Amino acid sequence: MASLQKLLLLSLLFHSLLIIKCDDDEDNLLQGINQYRSSLNLTALTKNDRAECLADEIAEQFKNQPCTNTTGSNTVPGTEPQYSDYPKLLAKCHLNVTTTRDGQIMPACVPNLDSGLVLSNFTKSQYSGYLNGTQYTGIGIGSEDNWIVVVLTTSTPEGNYSPGTNSDNGAASLTTISHIVFLFISFLLLL
Ligand SMILES: *[C@@H]1O[C@H](CO)[C@@H](O)[C@H](O)[C@H]1NC(C)=O
Ligand SMILES: *[C@@H]1O[C@H](CO)[C@@H](O)[C@H](O)[C@H]1NC(C)=O
Ligand SMILES: *[C@@H]1O[C@H](CO)[C@@H](O)[C@H](O)[C@H]1NC(C)=O
Ligand SMILES: *[C@@H]1O[C@H](CO)[C@@H](O)[C@H](O)[C@H]1NC(C)=O
Ligand SMILES: *[C@@H]1O[C@H](CO)[C@@H](O)[C@H](O)[C@H]1NC(C)=O
Repeated sequence: MASLQKLLLLSLLFHSLLIIKCDDDEDNLLQGINQYRSSLNLTALTKNDRAECLADEIAEQFKNQPCTNTTGSNTVPGTEPQYSDYPKLLAKCHLNVTTTRDGQIMPACVPNLDSGLVLSNFTKSQYSGYLNGTQYTGIGIGSEDNWIVVVLTTSTPEGNYSPGTNSDNGAASLTTISHIVFLFISFLLLL
């Protein structure tokens, strides 16, 4: 019984480490995007929790699709995928169409989320035309498997991703903290 518990704990621990690695990919991309903007003399983008929540939800939708030369940043402009259940995804993040209209959703597919390729998929593709926009002030990044999704927000009521009818629950930052706490407790239990 004791060894079964340890096994379970170890597998959960491994899962937590994967999630934290995921956050690393996202932080690297955020840094890269802000360096790109600073090279254009544009203001840095600040993290927006609800945009991050939506980015996570959309990455979740994409995760089982393989990378091809017509997915992600290779998409021909005007043929972007319609997200199934988009209103449902918005609602999950306490958002609605009114406050997200002027934002921008940009999915990219990169095997193993290689950090150099991830950054160039945003700064050296059609997406660069959005990343250089002066109207964008906030950003949320989510990733699942080979997919990484960037959501840009504005400072206007039509794109600031302010909470819709529901109140903000800060879910995105909470999960990271709970994972770190979990990791810590697991280590203690394994000793
Ligand atoms: C950014 O600002 C610096 C100093 O004002 C200027 O020398 C440089 O040409 C600007 N770069 C761009 C891309 O506008
Ligand atoms: C995408 O890949 C397919 C098969 O590998 C190829 O036939 C097609 O020309 C490629 N399209 C573009 C736009 O590169
Ligand atoms: C984007 O990532 C793909 C890998 O999925 C890579 O083949 C492609 O060269 C990258 N595109 C850019 C513009 O960096
Ligand atoms: C942003 O990039 C696009 C595409 O490269 C270009 O057409 C546009 O003029 C750029 N806008 C700014 C504000 O630099
Ligand atoms: C979205 O939320 C905003 C802010 O709470 C509200 O003013 C607006 O009426 C809502 N729109 C819809 C379509 O629910």
